[in-house]
Amino acid sequence: MDTFVINGGRRLSGRVRVNGSKNAALPVCAAALLTDGEVTLRDVPDLADLRNMYRLLGELGCEVVRGERGGGSGGGGGGVVKTGARDQALCHARYEVVKTMRASICTLGPLVAKRGHGRVSMPGGCAIGDRPVDLHLRGLAALGCEITLEAGDIVARAPKGGLRGATVFLGGPFGSTVLGTANVMSAAVLARGTTVIESAACEPEIVDLARMLSGMGAKISGAGSPRLVIEGVKELSGVEHAVMPDRIEAGTLILASAITNGEVTVENCPVDSLLAALDRFSAMGIGVSAEGQAKDPNRVTVRVTCERVIRPVEVTTQPHPGFPTDLQAQLMSVLTLADGNSVITERIFPERFLHVAELSRMGARLFRQGPTVIVSGVKELIGAPVMASDLRASAGLVLAGLAARGTTTVHRVYHLDRGYEQLEARLNALGADIRRVDDENLAKPTVSGEG
Ligand code: EPU
Repeated sequence: MDTFVINGGRRLSGRVRVNGSKNAALPVCAAALLTDGEVTLRDVPDLADLRNMYRLLGELGCEVVRGERGGGSGGGGGGVVKTGARDQALCHARYEVVKTMRASICTLGPLVAKRGHGRVSMPGGCAIGDRPVDLHLRGLAALGCEITLEAGDIVARAPKGGLRGATVFLGGPFGSTVLGTANVMSAAVLARGTTVIESAACEPEIVDLARMLSGMGAKISGAGSPRLVIEGVKELSGVEHAVMPDRIEAGTLILASAITNGEVTVENCPVDSLLAALDRFSAMGIGVSAEGQAKDPNRVTVRVTCERVIRPVEVTTQPHPGFPTDLQAQLMSVLTLADGNSVITERIFPERFLHVAELSRMGARLFRQGPTVIVSGVKELIGAPVMASDLRASAGLVLAGLAARGTTTVHRVYHLDRGYEQLEARLNALGADIRRVDDENLAKPTVSGEG
C-alpha cells in the first residue's frame, strides 16, 4: 500500500489543469449501456474507479477501448474511451466489482431499460455512512420494474412491453440523490411516455449526463432544476461526449494554493458549478479571479490568491447549488489555520468526519458535536503520521500536510487515487514536496491500528 511523505511549508505556484470529472464520468459510462451504437467519451480521468467501471462494462458485454490523452500544462485534460455493446445477455454486476465502487449501481437503470432486466449486487455502507439505495429502487419501481433481492443482489425486471413513464419523487431525508437521479433518468429515457422526476438532484454531473443522453437522442428538459421531464424514445444512438471538468478537484486545487499562501493558476476550472464554494472561499480571504474572458463558464482559467490571514467562516454542506460535501474535509484543513472559530455542519453525510481525529493529531483544534464541528484556528499544524479513510478525507490530510511544519505521512493513499489522478506529481510541479512510497519501505507508523 502506498503512503505519501509530505515535507510541508512550501508555497505553491504555477499552473495546473483540472481533469475531467470522476463523478460525471461514472454515470456517463454506465449510460453507454443504453445504445447499440458506439459511445466516445473525451476528458475521462484515469482513475481506479473508472478502471473498475470499464471492467464492469466488460463483464456486462461491452467492448471498452481506451485511447490517447488530451492535455494541457500541468497535466489534466483526460483520456478518450470508446465503448460499444457486444453481448447484451450479460446483465450481472457482481459483488466483487460493486464492493470496490458504489457507482456500479448506476448500471441498473440502463440495464433494465435496454435489456429488460439487470442484476446488481447491493452496495454496502462505506466510511462516510450507510448510503442506502432505497430512492434508486423506488424510482425504478415507479417506472414499472419488479424489484427483488436475491442472494445479496438487487434484481430489476421490466414489465412486458417495457418500462412506462411515471411521476417519481426522489427526495429523501438528506435531500435528493445524485446517483439515484442518474439511474432513474437513464432508465426513463427509454420508457414509454412521460416521466417527471420531482426533487431531482440539481448537481452539474446530472446536467452533464443529461447532455450526453440528449446527444444520443433522449428528450430531457429541466436538467439542473429539481423537476426533470423526460419523454421516452424507442432507441438511442451512439454519441461523442466531453466530460465536464471536475469541480471537486478544482476546489481542492484552489484550497491547496490557499493553505500554502501560494499563487496558483488553475486552468479548465468549472467556475459556474462552484459558486457556493467560491462564495465561502471569498469570505475566507481566498481570491479566485478569472484570467481573460472564458467562452464556457465551466472551463475558466483562474488565478488564486490568498490574504496572509485566513478568516473563519460558517459553512453548511448542502445539495447543489449549496456547498458540496465533497469539499468539506479539504475546507476544514484550511480553516484549522484561520484566525478565529469556524463552524462546519455536514447535512449530506452526517458521519463524514473521519478526518477530524487525524487533523487533531496534527495539532488542529476541533470539537465535534453530531453533524457539526467547531474549528478553532491554530497558528500552525505540525507534521504527523495520519491515516486516510476515504477519498475526500485523504485530500484534506494532504492539504494539511502541505501547510504543516515538518513531515506528514499520509497512509493508505489508495483512497486518494480513486478520485485524483497523480495528485502528488501535479502538486510537486507546483512546488510541493511529496514522495509516494510503498508502506513496506517505511518505518512502522506510530499510529494505533484500525480496530
Ligand atoms: N440517500 C438515501 N437513499 C438513497 C440514496 C441516497 O437516503 O437511495 C441519502 C444518502 O445516504 C445521503 C444523501 O441521500 O445522505 C445523498 O446521497 P447521494 O445519493 O446523493 O450520494 P451518491 O449519489 O451515492 C454522489 C457522489 C458522492 C457525493 C454525493 C453527494 C458519485 C459517484 N458519488 O454519491 O461523491 O458525495 O453524490 O454529492 O457521484 C466522492 O466523490 O468522494 C463522493 C462520495
